[in-house]
Amino acid sequence: MSLLTVYSENEPGTIILQTEQPEQIAGALREINVRFERWVLPVPVDPDAPAEQILEAYRPYLDRLMGDGGAGTADVIKLAPGNPNAAAMRAKFIQEHTHTEDEVRFFVSGEGSFLIHECGRVYDAHCTAGDLISVPASAKHWFSFGDEPSFTVLRVFTDTTGWTPYYTGDDISDRFPAI
Ligand SMILES: [Fe+2]
Repeated sequence: MSLLTVYSENEPGTIILQTEQPEQIAGALREINVRFERWVLPVPVDPDAPAEQILEAYRPYLDRLMGDGGAGTADVIKLAPGNPNAAAMRAKFIQEHTHTEDEVRFFVSGEGSFLIHECGRVYDAHCTAGDLISVPASAKHWFSFGDEPSFTVLRVFTDTTGWTPYYTGDDISDRFPAI
């Protein structure tokens, strides 16, 4: 289940807002220019299907998104339990950072949390299958997928250099473990 939890940046223990309602999640995130949508296919696609098949299934959504946002390309990444690179990937994304382009992700299966630090608040957006999230360029954020990651995700991007994380040096992610 998708879940948004909002905190004051100085009070990790105090929840300002918590909701599972997609429209409320989208509305709260829109205030900080983060796009959130639920994409529902008439027929489910196998998350282990070839990348081309997954991309084709979501093509109408992707075309609309790319038309709105100008992003040009999509690919598929999978991370399964037991992946030996999981710890290194986790370390790369768990510290607060920014990017030079929007970070656009769609969860075909599995789950993960984007924590966005904007306007004096921390927005913990726990995403599950069917969730699209777009974190705008320059927005401070980090990504948490727990100790045993399991997801298939679409990445929508213009240039792979946009994936480079620029660390802020703030240790705030230590104080806000993802739900
Ligand atoms: Fe990021």
